[in-house]
Parts: sequence; structure tokens; C-alpha cells
Amino acid sequence: MSRITLTRFLIERQRDKQLINADLRLLIETVARACKAISHAVTKGSIAGNLGSAGTDNVQGEVQKKLDVLSNEILLEANEWGGNLAALASEEMEDPHPIPTHYPKGEYLLLFDPLDGSSNIDVNVSVGTIFSVLRCPKTETGGFCEPDEKAFLQPGTLQVAAGFAVYGPTTMLVLTVGDGTHAFTLDREMGSFILTRPDIRIPGDTQEFAINMSNMRHWEPPVKRYIDECLAGKTGVREKDFNMRWIASMVADVYRILTRGGVFMYPSDARNKSGRLRLMYEANPMSFIVEQAGGAATDGRTRLLEVKPEGLHQRIAVILGSKNEVDRITAYHKA
Ligand code: F6P
Repeated sequence: MSRITLTRFLIERQRDKQLINADLRLLIETVARACKAISHAVTKGSIAGNLGSAGTDNVQGEVQKKLDVLSNEILLEANEWGGNLAALASEEMEDPHPIPTHYPKGEYLLLFDPLDGSSNIDVNVSVGTIFSVLRCPKTETGGFCEPDEKAFLQPGTLQVAAGFAVYGPTTMLVLTVGDGTHAFTLDREMGSFILTRPDIRIPGDTQEFAINMSNMRHWEPPVKRYIDECLAGKTGVREKDFNMRWIASMVADVYRILTRGGVFMYPSDARNKSGRLRLMYEANPMSFIVEQAGGAATDGRTRLLEVKPEGLHQRIAVILGSKNEVDRITAYHKA
């Protein structure tokens, strides 16, 4: 059987479908190569001295793990010199990272969360890398504008590619360039990502939800109503039993939803009025991926991809997954 590697998949999107250009293809391949290196570092764990805290805090005030720092360095080093980027932004760094002046610059902006779910690393639960690609806005004279923070503040609808890697029992790369969502399995011996799940579709209905239940007392009424109805099961208004899964690693929770449906919620609540997850590094790329697989993504009131960002590290409520459930939760917010 002929296997479709990530390279072949991207060449087809460039040459046959003309969905991406050579620079974007190279950029995606470079990110994928960095993900292979991160996967290797995650898998080595203690053998390579990679576990534990780095002894520093990131821009979000969160304790950085050694692997957070290492993953960030791997992604920066891999992407600086290719000539296809105007700048990079990372969840781990306060300001955008300019391309060093001795390298050529390109038209794209890359954003990433180098190691999502990293609080799970030491307990050996799946973690991952999330990325999003935007175009650098042009000036009136047609040149590229200064790739400062403002250049990155574009709604998710303008993403030209998004993806995530999940470092689990197998390393998977999930990708969209706007023609569906596709997943690749890392063949470690060959060193290649192989297309194993083309055209992923998320079922419209589900009986599975993912939410951190320990925050229940802080939730807003629409979220409480939805979860109460799920918990009521067969004898309640939903007339069916629900199952709950919360891995506390967004990449793993979203990958499950891409596999068998479900709804993922990190809502805003009385303590975190703006939500907990990051719009630019988590919500936008995941929303693009989920929508391209037939799902939906909202903050409860607004389609996430249409939110106009106000800051690089802005937080937002996230509700995504099976479309009929997300629509129901949105309706509860509007009631
Ligand atoms: O943003 C990082 C993250 O680890 C997500 O991957 C995950 O969904 C969430 O935080 C877990 O949050 P909590 O610690 O509240 O369960």
C-alpha cells in the first residue's frame, strides 16, 4: 500500500489544489520536524534529564517545566532561518520574537504553545504542541508591516493553517490548511508523519463531555444548566446517560473529540471572567481544526474564530466539539 507522507500531502495541496504556496509548505514541514524533536525529548523523559521544573515562571505566571523551555527553544531554532516567517510568538514569551537580521524574512507569522498540558508531564499523561499560522499584514505601499504585537492581532478566520501534535502512546500530528482536518501518525523508524486519518468528521451528537468539575461552584448559569442536564442522564430532559472525561491536557481532550465526538468546555466563571485558555495559542487553532472537521467552537456567545483579539496573551472561554451540543450550549447562553 502506498503511504501518504506529510510531504506528499503538502505537495498535493500546493501543486494540485493550489491551497498553499511553497513557503507555507516549508513552514508546516519545519514545524512538524520540530514536533518530532519535541516528541523525542518527551519520550526520553528522565533518561535525558528532561522532567521537572525549570525553576522559572512564564509570562502567564505559571511555573515552567524543563520541557516547556526546551520545546520553545526547539521551535524557535527550527523556524528562525527558513526565510518564510516575519516573526514568531510563543505562549512562553512575553513579546513577539523577531527573525534575526542575518536571516531572510517571509510573509508568515507563526504562533505556538510549545508544550500544552505541561502540568501533566511528570505524571506521564499526553501533552502536545499547538500552532497557528497567519499572514503578516501589508502596508499601504504593499510591503510587510512591522511584525509587532499588533500584526498578530487578527481574528482566527484569517488563519491560513493550524495544527497540533499530541505526544501520546503514538505521536499524532493534526493539521488543517482549510480543506478539512487530517491526522498523521509518526513512524519513528522512518522519521515521517504518515497520513492515517484523512478527512476527520466529528459526529454532530455526543454523550460525552469534558470539563473541570472542581470549578462547578464558580460557573455561570448556562454552563451549570447544561452540565446538570447531562448529569441527570436518562431520567432528565436529555433522556440519555452521559459520560465524563477530563484529561486536563487540551490536545488529548480535543484529539478524543476528533475521534469519537464530545464537547470540551473551559468556560469563563465567577473567578476567571475572561476564561482560562489562550485565544491566540489554543482557542483559535483548535477552533479552526474543529470547524474544519464539522464541529463548532464558541465562547458561549460568539464564534471563537470571529473574536477580534486585543492582546497576544488574551484569555477566553472555550466551548468546542460536536456541533449540536455546542449549538445547544450557545442557545442556553442566549436564553
Ligand atoms: O492551558 C493548559 C491546560 O493544561 C490545557 O491543556 C488544559 O485543558 C487545561 O490547562 C487544564 O486545566 P485544569 O488544570 O484547570 O484542569
